[in-house]
Amino acid sequence: MPREEPLLAPRQSSEHSSIRHEDEEDALLTGERVARSDDQRRGWGFWRQIGLFTWALVATVAVIVLAVAYQHKRLTQHDSQPTWGPGGKPTGKRNVIFMVSDGMGPTSLSLTRSFRQLELGLPPDDTLVLDQHHIGTSRTRSTSSLVTDSAAGATAFSCGIKSYNGAISVLSDHSPCGTVLEAAHQAGYKTGLVVTTRITDATPACFASHVNLRQYEDRIAEQEIGDHPLGRVVDLMLGGGRCHFLPNTTEGSCRGDDRDLIKEAEANGFHYIHSRKQFDGLSMGKDAKLPLLGLFAERDIPYEIDRRHVEDEYPSLEEMTRTALTALSKATEHSDKGFFIMIEGSRIDHAGHGNDPAAQVHEVLAYDKAFAAVLKFLEEDSTPGVLVSTSDHETGGLAAARQLHKSYPDYKWLPEVLAKASHSSEYLHAKLKEYLDGKGKKDDRATQRAYIRKQLLEKGLGIDDATDAEVDSLIETDPVWPANYIFADIISRRAQVGWTTHGHSAVDVNIYASSTKDAWPLVGNHENTDVGAFLAEYLDVDVRNVTKQLQQRSNDWLGDPLGADVRVDQLDTYHGEFKRGLAGSYFIDSMSCGCGSTDHSH
Ligand SMILES: *[C@@H]1O[C@H](CO)[C@@H](O)[C@H](O)[C@H]1NC(C)=O
Ligand SMILES: *[C@@H]1O[C@H](CO)[C@@H](O)[C@H](O)[C@H]1NC(C)=O
Ligand SMILES: [Zn+2]
Repeated sequence: MPREEPLLAPRQSSEHSSIRHEDEEDALLTGERVARSDDQRRGWGFWRQIGLFTWALVATVAVIVLAVAYQHKRLTQHDSQPTWGPGGKPTGKRNVIFMVSDGMGPTSLSLTRSFRQLELGLPPDDTLVLDQHHIGTSRTRSTSSLVTDSAAGATAFSCGIKSYNGAISVLSDHSPCGTVLEAAHQAGYKTGLVVTTRITDATPACFASHVNLRQYEDRIAEQEIGDHPLGRVVDLMLGGGRCHFLPNTTEGSCRGDDRDLIKEAEANGFHYIHSRKQFDGLSMGKDAKLPLLGLFAERDIPYEIDRRHVEDEYPSLEEMTRTALTALSKATEHSDKGFFIMIEGSRIDHAGHGNDPAAQVHEVLAYDKAFAAVLKFLEEDSTPGVLVSTSDHETGGLAAARQLHKSYPDYKWLPEVLAKASHSSEYLHAKLKEYLDGKGKKDDRATQRAYIRKQLLEKGLGIDDATDAEVDSLIETDPVWPANYIFADIISRRAQVGWTTHGHSAVDVNIYASSTKDAWPLVGNHENTDVGAFLAEYLDVDVRNVTKQLQQRSNDWLGDPLGADVRVDQLDTYHGEFKRGLAGSYFIDSMSCGCGSTDHSH
């Protein structure tokens, strides 16, 4: 792992330069040109004055530099925390909180920052909490592509090793690799996973399970509740994805078999909850009993932009985060080991896949709030710890400007357009479908148009100037370009926000941390695997030992490497590439790629 100089390393340049270039600086201060030629003779008095002035200047600069350095050190260090640096190891009881902002690229921050300033009337230099903790960047490629998916991305974090797109903590040779969560569990730490999508989705899956392809979510669910070579490794799970835990004989199931994983989880000791009311019964974690399994949605928890209208049904990411931290802190109160938790802002990625900028800024704001809650926890909790936050990749190829015409564009994008939206494109798509399949089926085109304009575009997106062509395109959609893409495009164009893809992109993503003192190895530009290595190193756990234990078994528990076990009807809504890759003819591309005579898209 490359070790970079910590940001706080003393810098030497200021004093030296002020001595070396005293005359230039003098000139800068007085606004006079420096005289260097011999023919200008000066008396001793003059040179004494210059000497005294220079001495005073150097002394002042030195005092200021020292004062700033001291103050900075005081602000960024907790005296109680164990110190470590190059060649050292963190010691004592400690916690690791790892946050993943799935699909959040640098532009997501710019967009959200400006959106927040506008919506709350804040000054132009107001920043997100994340902005104040930016320490580095991560290079995200996988072994199979320059553009990673979340599975390979999270395997880099969990195992500290790169693998192929689709791999859930298995390597390119389809053997399992031990994860930091499993190693932490074996070392006596408590462990947790908090997400806003399915708890069986790629990012959480990579910490507590191993399968050859991310689509094997039934298997992932089984391993997460303890049907795993190492037994139960997770103490707390909060999120969505209930459908993979319910037997296929039950309403709301998406399992391929009739196993009742809720029953099996309870037999393994889990306390299972599934409603907002039961979540509230945890008293933000004070009354939580581990192991705990909380599944609050069949699949995804709604986007924050939609969830805020139904707060009595679903907890927010911040609420789940605070609950989990309190529960884990309480559970490790009398232990000499702390906890490891992974908290994911899962649906920033989904908003990127949907190219929905209004949904995205609310997802990023919710993530920023959860990040702030973790900082507050670290400040208040008696056990020291570190918070590291990064993304697995960027999604959407988001751009904070968009050229809409042939004529040269104005320099602007318009956050006020996003501020008028009250719902996501995904929500409006569902409403549209409900209408067109129901009451609107028999309506004539004029009535349908009027409904879409008033109830969906105006009420949902705050848009009252849609053209007939736009409205009609929402009625006559084709399956590969669904209505949510069109809603999202309607708002993106008006906000002058650009997108280059409905998939992921290869841009470096940001790394954030509670302090550079603890996360010093992650300062600067890194491979994503360095983040994984840091987590294991800070916890001082041995993932290679876990790999050895896992590889002692034959690999038949990982699912078919080629996808023979994939059930086509249960495919991930947000990752259409699998529909193409595995179900062959499903995807019919009706548009030319405009990229030469060969079709490069396949
Ligand atoms: C439910 O699962 C059982 C196997 O556990 C299978 O035999 C059956 O076909 C499944 N039913 C449906 C409707 O998928
Ligand atoms: C590997 O882990 C096992 C189980 O926790 C432990 O018993 C063993 O001592 C570990 N081996 C090494 C070399 O750390
Ligand atoms: Zn994605």
